[in-house]
Amino acid sequence: METKTLIPEPVNVFEFESLARAKMEPSAFEYFAGGAEDEVTLRANRAAFEKIFLRPRYLVDVSNRDLATNVLGQPISFPVLLAPTGYQCLAHPDGELATARAASASGTIMVVSTVATYSLEEIAAAARPLWFQLYSYKDKRINERLIRRAEKAGYRALCLTIDVPVLARRERDLRNCFALPQGMQASILADMELGAAPQSAESSGRVSYSGLVFDAALTWNDVDWMRTVTAMPLVIKGVLTPEDARLAVEHGAAGIVVSNHGGRQLDGVPATIDALPEIVAEVGGEIEVYLDSGVRRGTDVLKALALGAKAVLIGRPFLWGLAVDGEAGVRRVLEMLRHELDTALGLVGKRSVAEIDARILFHT
Ligand code: FNR
Repeated sequence: METKTLIPEPVNVFEFESLARAKMEPSAFEYFAGGAEDEVTLRANRAAFEKIFLRPRYLVDVSNRDLATNVLGQPISFPVLLAPTGYQCLAHPDGELATARAASASGTIMVVSTVATYSLEEIAAAARPLWFQLYSYKDKRINERLIRRAEKAGYRALCLTIDVPVLARRERDLRNCFALPQGMQASILADMELGAAPQSAESSGRVSYSGLVFDAALTWNDVDWMRTVTAMPLVIKGVLTPEDARLAVEHGAAGIVVSNHGGRQLDGVPATIDALPEIVAEVGGEIEVYLDSGVRRGTDVLKALALGAKAVLIGRPFLWGLAVDGEAGVRRVLEMLRHELDTALGLVGKRSVAEIDARILFHT
């Protein structure tokens, strides 16, 4: 009888990570997986979810369950969006095109990074709906051109990332002398005729390039200016305090992402799920609050929603799917999380995401 070596089908996101590790070039895997400095925050993101326990109610008819919701008025099939992550061609040649198609097929939204490897128009031609994530550049004309291009290409929201005034030290990348492979760069930047990323200083082209052009002088005044440039709703990503959440409201944001950049920026900040409650207490009734960093399970989504998030974003989980099997891999990760969330919802005794509140948590 013929014997076949079966590649085990991953049953959760962590197993996708193992498959991605086996498949990817090691320094690219570490660029995706790593965090800043001691990776205290990276670990805290997981540990904090694991410290929260659930409080189920039984003998409730949960035979029909509804995961659908909406963000900024846009219907989505379940409350999981794809976070902006750069250079997706490091995971798969189809890069952002595959991710956009998978998000669309799963009925959700992809947030496209400023440092995507395909142009924002190519990604918009592949699939929608999309939001555009902006890293502000020192040259405001570049910001203006990028925002106008995104609006013209049909992007639904502008997501301004505020937690990279300077790039953190990611020691795995420094140790690996990580640099983008020859010929790969952020398409958007090439289009802007900024030239190729220098490949030398700080051992990493990406690190030195970011330092050269990102805007460490960005303030809330620039946020006001951005709102004059576009009619797209503004989402501020990287909020970790009620003070900044309040300022986001005052400066006209429609939403905020409570995020620590997946533990990749300031090491030593708390897990986002721990930072969420006081932020929701401050602005929850006024703007939409989303959360990312460390979401790996349907029960994590449930916990974030119970503490007041409208939806979550995932970063690394879909990158693992992309690395393993392109568009189909991203879809499998999304469907896995949908299935887990659906199961968890039934098990806590709820019929819809709208019914989720803090009473499903033990510690509050
Ligand atoms: C990111 N993140 C990110 N954020 C952003 O605003 N613009 C970007 O270009 C990137 N690039 C990026 C690359 C990689 C490889 C990772 C892992 C992350 C942060 C991202 O949007 C999100 O905040 C985190 O990924 C969420 O944490 P998890 O889900 O990866 O734990």
